[in-house]
Amino acid sequence: MAYETIIVDVQDYVAMITLNRPDALNAINTQMLSELCTALEDADVNDKVRCVVITGSEKAFAAGADITEMSDRSFVDMYVAKIFSAEATRFNNARKPIIAAVSGYALGGGCELAMMCDFIIAADTAKFGQPEINLGVIAGLGGTQRLPRYVGKAKAMDMHLTGRFMDAPEAERCGLVSRVVPVKKLKEEAMAAAAKIAEKSTIATQAAKEAVNAAFETPLTAGLAVERGLFYAMFSTEDQKEGMAAFLEKREAQFRDR
Ligand code: HXC
Repeated sequence: MAYETIIVDVQDYVAMITLNRPDALNAINTQMLSELCTALEDADVNDKVRCVVITGSEKAFAAGADITEMSDRSFVDMYVAKIFSAEATRFNNARKPIIAAVSGYALGGGCELAMMCDFIIAADTAKFGQPEINLGVIAGLGGTQRLPRYVGKAKAMDMHLTGRFMDAPEAERCGLVSRVVPVKKLKEEAMAAAAKIAEKSTIATQAAKEAVNAAFETPLTAGLAVERGLFYAMFSTEDQKEGMAAFLEKREAQFRDR
C-alpha cells in the first residue's frame, strides 16, 4: 500500500516503519496515525514480518500530535469524531512485537506513541516530554496513564504538570527506555534487537507480549492465570517441541511458527 506520511520497509523479517513528516518534526496527524495502524495490521498478517520497529528522524521521533490540525477544533469536533480513539485501539490490538527507536524529540503524542510500543530503545539525543500543559491541554493518547506505569507517579506528575523534558540517561534510569545507544547506532541497534526477536517463534513472542501486557491490565492473580494459560498452551505448538529438542541436541532451533 502507498503511504504518504510513513515509509515501510520489510527486510529480514523486520518491518521498519519510519515516520515521515520531516517539515513538521513528524507531528502526528490523523492521516499518519491511521497509516501507522494500517501498516501494523499489515505486519500482523504478513508471514515475512516477525517484529516491527517504529522510528523517526534524527531530530525527532515525533514532536507531538499535529497542533495545526487540532488548534481550531471545538470540544464537539473532538468528541463527535472521537479523535484518535479508534486508532489507539487499532494500535493496541497489534500482536507482533513493536520496538520504538527514538532519536531527538518524543513529545506529547510522540512520547505517547513510543510508550504504546512494547519497548523503547533511545538514542543518547532523545528527549521525552508531555508538554501539552504548555498548550492549555493535557495528554490525550495515553500519556497520563502509561507514563506513571513506566516511571512512577512522582516523575509522571512532574512531566505532565511542568512540561519539562527528560533526557535519555534520566529516561533509562527511571525505566522509560530499555537501553540508550549512540545516535549514529540507533537504527543498527534497533534492527539487531528486532532481528533477535525475529529468530524466535512468533507464537511465543506474541504470547510473551500478551502476558506482559496483562500485568498492566489485571490484578496479580488474574495476570498469573493469563501467563499460566499461555504457558501451557505453548506445549501444543511444534515450536515448543523444536525449541526443546534443539536445546537437548545442542543445535540452533528452526522455528516454523506452528
Ligand atoms: C505541528 C509542529 C509540531 C507539532 C513542531 N512543529 N512540532 N507542527 N505540531 N506538534 C513544526 C513547527 O511549527 C515548525 O514548522 C517545524 O515543525 C520545526 O519546528 P521548530 O519549532 O521550528 O523547531 P525547534 O525550534 O527545533 O523546536 C523543536 C520543538 C518545538 C521543541 C520540538 O517544535 C516544539 O515545542 N514543538 C511542539 C511540541 C509540543 O507541544 N508537543 C505536544 C503537542 S500536543 P514551520 O512551518 O514553522 O517550519 C499533543 C497532544 C497529544 O501531542 C494528544 C493526542 C490526541
